[in-house]
Order: sequence, then structure tokens, then C-alpha cells
Amino acid sequence: MTDKIVILTGAGISAESGLGTFRDEDGLWTRYDLEEVATPEGFARNPGFVHEFYNARRANCARAEPNAAHAALARLERDHPGEVVIVTQNVDDLHERAGATRVIHMHGALSGALCAACDHRWPAPHVMQTADPCPACATPATRPDVVWFGEIPYHMDEIMNHLATCTRFAAIGTSGEVYPAAGFVQLASDAGAHTVELNLDPSSVVSSFSETWPGPATQVVPDWVASLLR
Ligand code: APR
Repeated sequence: MTDKIVILTGAGISAESGLGTFRDEDGLWTRYDLEEVATPEGFARNPGFVHEFYNARRANCARAEPNAAHAALARLERDHPGEVVIVTQNVDDLHERAGATRVIHMHGALSGALCAACDHRWPAPHVMQTADPCPACATPATRPDVVWFGEIPYHMDEIMNHLATCTRFAAIGTSGEVYPAAGFVQLASDAGAHTVELNLDPSSVVSSFSETWPGPATQVVPDWVASLLR
């Protein structure tokens, strides 16, 4: 049976690229009220403020560079004989810019725009505002194509299929605080996969993993990838 590796990533893999995490000491949710900037209700109340929040994150992302952890995962995808699929909770494009090609964005992406009126999708402008007319229906209802709290994550059927058929599951840089992603380790384990957590601090679901590699992603991820490619 060829090795099939599913890798879940969270904000921690992009922390050393200068992009903030959410729940660490200086995390985004310590500076912003997620109800105001990461819910459909918050967007309906004040779309301009939500656009300011995501325009700033889009600018930060454009200035950031992929780090050694992103590069190591791209190398694993390229050099590993079996299948490698990255399922990311992140909305940045650092996996792709590091060379990864099989990346599933379950929480959407800053690079996408979505029409709240007709669900049309198109590449996001650097600076987005609600008044931008939808290219398809012309309604001024433009929003970031990201998944907010209370909305259904993207590509879940495909993700469930990967988890049911993987032989190895790794979670990198995620606190295990948000479902359904936090439950992926149990699904992979139930499918008989070997499970590994690579994280700066133990996540809320660390006890569900067979193996842990504690430390900063730019150190532990290249070491872990090297151990698989030996
Ligand atoms: N290397 C490895 N892990 C790190 C590093 C690092 N340099 N820095 C931080 N971490 C770890 C932290 O220990 C923490 O466990 O990354 C994790 C970040 O956790 P969160 O801030 O909760 O981010 P994440 O798990 O991605 O959040 C999940 O919550 O708010 C929603 O949609 C948002 O996708 C996000 C989801």
C-alpha cells in the first residue's frame, strides 16, 4: 500500500513568515473581536471595517515570504513516492508560493473575491470594498472569499475522503481549537493512519496523536520531512 500523507496546517506554519496567529499572546483575536470581522453578521453590520481587516491581511501576505517549513512540505510533495495532500486552514498563499501544488483551502483564501448576492467568484483586488460591483451580476456585494465562523468550510467531502484513505496524518501549527479541523486527527486515526503533531506548544488535541515533534515549524518540519525521505 503506497504511503498517502494528509497534512493539516494552521496559522503557526506561517508565524515565522511574519503572519500573525490567532490565539497566541499577540494573536489576531487578542486585537480584533472575531464577531466583528469573521462572521456574516459582523460583515452585514459593518462591511467597510471587515474589508479594512482583510485588506490589511492581504497586504501583509503579499509582503511575507514562504519559510523553511512551507519549502519542506513542497519538497515532500515533490520527492515522496506516494501521495501528499495539504489541507490548510490558512488563507495565505505561502504553500503555493513555496511550490506546493495539491493545497486545499478549507477556509478559503485572501486571493479570492466572492459576491454575497450571486456566489460568483473572481480573483480578489489588492484593496477590496463592498461597493465593488460583482463582475457577473453587478450587485455591489463584494466580500472576501474566506469562510467565517458559522459558515461551512470548503471541500469537506474531498477532505473526508482523503482522511479515510490516508496512511499518515500530520497537523502543523494549529491549536486544535476549531472544528471540524480539530477532529481530523481522530478520523485519520480511525482509518488506521499514523498521526503526528508538529507544533510550538501542545495543541488541545495533542493526546490524540501517536507522535509529536514540539518546536518552531522552520526547525521541526524540515527535520520531519527529512526523516520521511530517508
Ligand atoms: N511553529 C509552530 N507552531 C507555532 C508557531 C511556530 N513558529 N507559532 C505558533 N505556533 C502554534 C501555536 O502553538 C498554536 O498552537 O500555532 C498554533 C496557532 O493556533 P491558532 O492561533 O489558534 O491558529 P489556528 O489553529 O490556525 O486557528 C484555526 O481558527 O480563527 C480561526 O479561521 C481561523 O483558520 C483559523 C482557525
